[in-house]
Amino acid sequence: MNRPLYAIPGSSAAAPVSTPAPASAAAPPNVPPGRTVAEVLAQSQVEAVLDELERDLVGLAPVKQRVRDIAALLVVDRLRTAQGLPTANPSLHMCFTGNPGTGKTTVALRMAQILHRLGYVRQGQMVAVTRDDLVGSYIGHTGPKTKEVLKKAMGGVLFIDEAYTLYRPENERDYGQEAIEILLQVMENQRDDLVVILAGYADRMDSFFRCNPGLSSRIAHHLGFPDYSQAELLQIAERMLAQLQYGFGPGAREALAQYLELRVQQPHFANARSVRNALDRARLRQASRLFGERDRALSRDDLSTITQADIRASRVFAANA
Ligand SMILES: Nc1ncnc2c1ncn2[C@@H]1O[C@H](COP(=O)(O)OP(=O)(O)O)[C@@H](O)[C@H]1O
Ligand SMILES: [Mg+2]
Repeated sequence: MNRPLYAIPGSSAAAPVSTPAPASAAAPPNVPPGRTVAEVLAQSQVEAVLDELERDLVGLAPVKQRVRDIAALLVVDRLRTAQGLPTANPSLHMCFTGNPGTGKTTVALRMAQILHRLGYVRQGQMVAVTRDDLVGSYIGHTGPKTKEVLKKAMGGVLFIDEAYTLYRPENERDYGQEAIEILLQVMENQRDDLVVILAGYADRMDSFFRCNPGLSSRIAHHLGFPDYSQAELLQIAERMLAQLQYGFGPGAREALAQYLELRVQQPHFANARSVRNALDRARLRQASRLFGERDRALSRDDLSTITQADIRASRVFAANA
């Protein structure tokens, strides 16, 4: 899989970054109703997204199943429409809970594609934001900020990362409340044009919903993203390397397995994101290792091999020496 096209803005100065709306030629806003499930899946090209999800992402079986279930619901909804049966105009707002690096943003992007291809949103872009993009620091700033973000997200998916930070009970006059109220209105009144996905740690989202029952009742689908097992993390590493046309030299896979065992116990471990970061650093070490060999002709193999030493030079091993 390529690096994600989106970026989560980290600071209040950053404007929300969004994926471009897919070319409308690829998916007409209104899927012509087919007679069979297969026809709808084929016409809308949703099957392709489901297959990619299955193929590109390691593990996540329960999440993949839920995405399929939601797609099934939407396809049947389309078939009902075609037969003149009443449809409920399903509420599609979702909540993705899980620890950092468990694939929430990645799956949200696929969900945006599915919703677009089935004609549930007009454009299919995903706008990813955090509290700082919605909430201002001064009185009167939050409304315009939130509305600006909503305008960009209209016709697509608004992904609110660490959504629980919108509610700060310790701060009586927190402006987050204002953003929540605007969101609530839009989630109710414009749900045929905007799907909101809230994401964050499971426990924090639970207490967030307890304190904001209005929001909770508007979320139709809750998806839990489990932490990856050691074996899955290693498999993710291999996929990531293969995508960049790198491979492990002798003993390097085992070294990474040991690295991961140590790394999960350390602070700020972030599942697949930590794997990506570890591989980025290993590639840096590989490069400086090769850089040191000024006079040797470098083969294709040299250039695409991460050696055991590239992994073992990590600080994670030093801390446990
Ligand atoms: N199951 C998976 N298989 C392969 N790569 C994954 C998987 N889950 C996450 N990744 C990769 O890990 C990184 C972090 O994933 P992301 O979706 O941003 O996690 P989150 O939003 O939960 O923090 C991304 O580069 C993503 O491509
Ligand atoms: Mg994320």
